[in-house]
Amino acid sequence: MQHQIDDMKPDLLKSIGGAQTLAALDEIRVAALGKSGRITALMKELGALQGDARKSAGQVLNDFKNEIVRALEAKKAALELAEMNAKLASQTMDMTLPARPEETGRIHPVSMATEEMLTIFAQMGFSLAEGPDIEDDWHNFEALNIPKAHPARQMQATFFMEGDGDKILRTQTSGVQIRTMENQKPPIKIVAPGRTYRRDYDATHTPMFHQIEGLVIDKSTNLGHLKGVLLEFLKLFFETDDVQLRFRPSYFPFTEPSFEVDVGGVLARNIGREWVELLGCGMVHPNVLKNCGLDPDEYQGFAFGCGIDRLAMMKYGIPDLRPMFEADMRWIKQYGFLPLDVPTITSGLSLNGGHKK
Ligand code: DAH
Repeated sequence: MQHQIDDMKPDLLKSIGGAQTLAALDEIRVAALGKSGRITALMKELGALQGDARKSAGQVLNDFKNEIVRALEAKKAALELAEMNAKLASQTMDMTLPARPEETGRIHPVSMATEEMLTIFAQMGFSLAEGPDIEDDWHNFEALNIPKAHPARQMQATFFMEGDGDKILRTQTSGVQIRTMENQKPPIKIVAPGRTYRRDYDATHTPMFHQIEGLVIDKSTNLGHLKGVLLEFLKLFFETDDVQLRFRPSYFPFTEPSFEVDVGGVLARNIGREWVELLGCGMVHPNVLKNCGLDPDEYQGFAFGCGIDRLAMMKYGIPDLRPMFEADMRWIKQYGFLPLDVPTITSGLSLNGGHKK
């Protein structure tokens, strides 16, 4: 047995070392270890031996076989590496090529509107607050004075995390009010933009949309302040002084009193209406303050919540909500912005749509 191995080994190792391709290497493997390979044949011969002779021959043969297997594996890895390096070398990318002009990126109208809103609120002294998209029941509902059986939950059917009934995709940015009040003491003056989710889909509703939330809490904050902030915000955002506001009494569980705000003036006339519904707001409900550990006898404040997408559509003259989130290059080319080129309904849109050239 040893003799046969000594005969076979040098040539076999040499041919493994010399294999140029993975296919050639595999042929060598089959010729040695395949069904009718030479090593396999030696294995079969073991059957004819007896006792100690069989044991020691088996040992020698096994060592030999293992040595060949290791050599094959090492060579295979080396060939694969060489193959990959050759591929990489033949498929180089020229990083110095300039970008193709027609693939220049655009700023999405929702990003644009959010940036503008944040800039305006920052000028008014608001800071930015954020909360998670995957929210818990306490922050999205319970602490906002919306208990389990409350009908307001029905209007905000959303997506639940499998296996964890407590975790949902947030239906509103209002939960950030709670997170903020839990973590800082008044005076509080924040805005919180972000994604929100509801089980809705039609021309004016998508399952994912964007809201911006505002919250101001101090000792004597009142409705006059709320009105002033909203009026100033809308004039700056829509770049016109022709803004009228109408506060309609409404209901939200987390505010008392609650209002829906309609806007009149050029924005409504522009779409042939006298008033357009814009946002919800009110004075923060005492229960909400209590839920966050604030004493309603000491502190009061206002909150508002508003759809960013809707305001972007109004401002930039975008007719349909749905294509906003379909990642269609034609749409983003039409409605997206180059950083220094911003058409608006009041400053003028180009006739062929989209941005000015
Ligand atoms: N979260 C409400 C919604 O999604 C909007 C809203 C109404 C927010 C009144 C507020 C508010 O902060 O005071 O319908």
